[in-house]
Amino acid sequence: SKGDYRHYMQKEIFEQPSVIQAVLEGRLSGSSVLVESFGPDAQVLFQKTRQVHIIACGTSYHAAMVARYWLERYACVPVQVEVASEYRYRHPVVPEGSLFVTLSQSGETADTLAALRFAKTLGYVGTLAICNVPGSSLVRESDMTLMTRAGPEIGVASTKAFTTQLVALMLLTLSVSKAKGQEEHASIVEALQTLSSVCEQALALDSQIEQLSQAFAEKHHALFLGRGAHYPIALEGALKLKEISYIHAEAYPAGELKHGPLALVDSEMPVISVAPNDDLLEKLKSNLQEVRARGGQLFVFADKNVGIKPEDNIQVIELPHIHEALAPLLYTLPLQLLSYHVAVLKGTDVDQPRNLAKSVTVE
Ligand code: M6R
Repeated sequence: SKGDYRHYMQKEIFEQPSVIQAVLEGRLSGSSVLVESFGPDAQVLFQKTRQVHIIACGTSYHAAMVARYWLERYACVPVQVEVASEYRYRHPVVPEGSLFVTLSQSGETADTLAALRFAKTLGYVGTLAICNVPGSSLVRESDMTLMTRAGPEIGVASTKAFTTQLVALMLLTLSVSKAKGQEEHASIVEALQTLSSVCEQALALDSQIEQLSQAFAEKHHALFLGRGAHYPIALEGALKLKEISYIHAEAYPAGELKHGPLALVDSEMPVISVAPNDDLLEKLKSNLQEVRARGGQLFVFADKNVGIKPEDNIQVIELPHIHEALAPLLYTLPLQLLSYHVAVLKGTDVDQPRNLAKSVTVE
């Protein structure tokens, strides 16, 4: 049931601190990850892994894109990420030592399942499914599985399934790094242990974000910007807004702005940007100035320590400080809340947007 919440989506957004705890439960020990969380063969399979291919659809695909930044940076393995409906019709070249990973909330998405069946004919070292539904087809047919333990997700727009997938993918990153005898990344493990409470703080911004949402209700378009691992978070923010409020939204890596989309920016175009405290911050700030100079209305979700100040046309929502590696998880939450409140204002069917199904079991 929805309990005190108005919509399932709202309930599922607010469940995130507790399901983040659940996905971590029993999978860390001290300042290290437990590789065997991925099953008895994981140690051997990860040792053999020289690159990773990750396949998914929709929101799950955005989680895969974040994992690419993490696996390359923290486990030093090359990664390819692709939507399942493209992968399955290509002629993929699979170098020796490739691990095949699928991500899916439902475990029944037709294209993702077909991609797994196809991949099994291509000589991967093994297959791993990161999934939320025990006993689903994807889980039954993969060599290794890691359950995301988000509990049933009823809202068609995926929220807690996404953030728990991200946690699972960080566990994968740390496990591959450890199995290959690389760094243990103790500081990331420690940050994972406090992640749930930092997310709680971000959700406390709810009423501030609700106020902000009024600026979007009459808009027809919105632009989301992010850099690095926050580019996929911008994509996910845009997808949420499209899905439930039917506002056309696009996401760009901020550095691409001047290669085309800047032409769209005027006072009618809200631009939403995520600005965590990372090494791309200074570059991002200059991208934001490009928007400002064209009269664009900016909404910036920023680390409280970075000192982006509100000015004319810039609204700043400050987020708690978090370990750089986990920032994509945290910055997802205010974007979910924003699209939720915009949809409520517009009076759309938040939990069951038009034309969409929770589980896409047709091709
Ligand atoms: O169950 P899956 O994770 O495989 O589903 C994939 C997509 O259909 C799903 O994420 C879809 O994009 C959501 N409606 C997004 O909110």
